[in-house]
Amino acid sequence: MADTATTLLTEALHDLEATADETALEAWRVAYLGRSGRLTALLRGLGALPAEERKAAGAAANETKGRLEEAFAARSQTVREAALAKLSGVAIDVTLPGRPLALGRYHPTTQIVREICGIFERMGFSVVEGPEVEWDYYNFEALNIPKDHPARDMWDTIWVSPEGPRAEKPMLMRTHTSPMQVRIMEGAEPPIRVIVPGRVYRYEATDATHESSFYQIEGLAVDEGIGLADLKGTLYEFARQMFGEERKVRFRCDYFPFVEPGVDMSIDCFNCNGKGCRTCKNSGWIEILGAGMVHPDVLRRAGYDPERYTGFAFGMGPERVAMLRYGIDDIRLFYSNDLRFLRQF
Ligand code: PHE
Repeated sequence: MADTATTLLTEALHDLEATADETALEAWRVAYLGRSGRLTALLRGLGALPAEERKAAGAAANETKGRLEEAFAARSQTVREAALAKLSGVAIDVTLPGRPLALGRYHPTTQIVREICGIFERMGFSVVEGPEVEWDYYNFEALNIPKDHPARDMWDTIWVSPEGPRAEKPMLMRTHTSPMQVRIMEGAEPPIRVIVPGRVYRYEATDATHESSFYQIEGLAVDEGIGLADLKGTLYEFARQMFGEERKVRFRCDYFPFVEPGVDMSIDCFNCNGKGCRTCKNSGWIEILGAGMVHPDVLRRAGYDPERYTGFAFGMGPERVAMLRYGIDDIRLFYSNDLRFLRQF
């Protein structure tokens, strides 16, 4: 029983009124105008009509088809406009620029650590990392700091073993990156050229120049025939690249149990060119690292023959380098998570 053109038209227009979005419109189109829709069925039914009725019915059907297509087009337009009006009205202003993505950045310490490592990598050093929880053996014993050594006092820090330093194999948060000197030598044959960045821990009342946790960068080079001149040349080149072509470098004797001789290195103040200012505390010089020739006992303990191999080692604090470079006056700023500070780098 096919629809008559009139019922089809009335019902179709009525249903079309109720469509409110694209999905409903498409469903309506399929139901009425689609290939198995009601209008198609009506048109197909025409052939079965007696000839005298066919002409009028055909005209009515075609007229209905035209009206439905027109109504559909109009309704589509209305629905689309309503949707747009809703978007541009209350809900969303589609003309607003997008929200900027919050971009992260590297922490100033990370930036400086990378820069320092980069300088040494270009001189042929490889970057290696080591454990932050360390055996007493590597942190102290293997570096000529036995149980009763006074150097332990300032490094008597965060013990991980419950019995503290009295444990059979005591363990602690490493107080420097120097234990990696021993680990590296134990695991490799010369020639060795490594740079070891990492976090260290100290028993420290914090103030503007002291933190209980900070970074160090250790350097180690071991081979046949390495001497103090190699140490000086390497560190001089580092200072030049890090602080500028015109930097002067000064070495003075210093003591660290695991080097012999031991030195500290200063550069002439890049702020006042050595005249004396706040940055260099009026001395004209800024101390930036400790260094020395690896002690024969340290080499021997790691399994090297000190008659054949010699080496140099150094250790520096990247936060200190960053403080000098950027004129930062309080080391605690690095680890207080204050975005106002961090965003400046
Ligand atoms: N580890 C020493 C410190 O923390 C620095 C250092 C490293 C000195 C290597 C000499 C050689 O103070």
